[in-house]
Amino acid sequence: PTFLKVKANKVANPFFVGMAVKAAQLTSGSGYDIILKNEFSSISAEYEMKMDPISTASGVYNWAAADKIVAYGNANGINVHGHALVWHNAVPNWLKDFSGTDAEFALEVKKYITDVVTHYAGKVKSWDVVNEAADDNGGNMRNTIFLQRMGPNYIKDCFQWARDAANAAGDTSLLLFYNDYATSTNIPKQDRVFTIVDDLKASNLIDGIGFQMHNTYLSPTKAQIETDLNRAVTKGLKIHISELDIQVNQSNDISTFTNERRLAQKEKYKEIVKIYNALPAANKYALTVWGMKDNESWIPYSTELNHVGNDWPLLYDSNFAVKSSHTGFLEGL
Ligand code: XIL
Repeated sequence: PTFLKVKANKVANPFFVGMAVKAAQLTSGSGYDIILKNEFSSISAEYEMKMDPISTASGVYNWAAADKIVAYGNANGINVHGHALVWHNAVPNWLKDFSGTDAEFALEVKKYITDVVTHYAGKVKSWDVVNEAADDNGGNMRNTIFLQRMGPNYIKDCFQWARDAANAAGDTSLLLFYNDYATSTNIPKQDRVFTIVDDLKASNLIDGIGFQMHNTYLSPTKAQIETDLNRAVTKGLKIHISELDIQVNQSNDISTFTNERRLAQKEKYKEIVKIYNALPAANKYALTVWGMKDNESWIPYSTELNHVGNDWPLLYDSNFAVKSSHTGFLEGL
């Protein structure tokens, strides 16, 4: 068979094909392990490299799961993308409840970023430094605990701390990404993201943008995605399609995965791979799919997404068998 990473390695401007993983999947000989080694050239932690699982108290870290993921990538020649240092949905309770001053709060965030980037220096190729800082409404900044406690400069501070920590640890090639979702369809949000990015770029603190791409079989359109990505191209930034999945049952109107939706999903996977593949070499980094098997995707019944039914958003079914979406991915290369 032709494997995804093998084909992606042979295109004119190659890039990493990434997969979101959990530490428990990485046992040698598991279905995940076999597919990862054959098909994928990059991994992102789906949950275990976020602040909440790593930071159990101020200056106290639980590295076990994250270390396992990073070691797996390093041992198998698989790129490791770090996800994510600062995210409003993964703030540990001790930090939510932090009773010190705002300046002390900022020092806690600085210490966390410094310690994590240092711990993985030379082992993790890139980090999402700040995730989802733009709001869904009106192109505003998202009103997170970080904005409230640290003020509007917090994003720049976080990138600076990440850069400083990497340099101090001797890693001068760490790639720093800003990561967000729904920017192709929500234009005020897209504008906000590019304002954030311009500001970071002016201080030479950013290498790339992660476009999550939790898409559906209908949206965004090809033109919407191209417009969004091209803004990053004109700024000379690397582009990571960082969390790709394609829903087919957002409105819960089907109870089984129909052939019609199967084909529509296949075409949509093909379309986005084609768009990504056509980017200039300098702007490519990785295209990462957010989970391996449909039955373990975060999408079905997600309260965060108001998703009320089942869904089949990924490349493999519950038995690790490739779907038509996988064929579509290959056809896009
Ligand atoms: C999700 C994971 O898929 C879940 O398993 C976890 O419980 C919560 O986070 N945007 C992101 C990802 O940047 O980190 C989120 O991943 C999905 C939305």
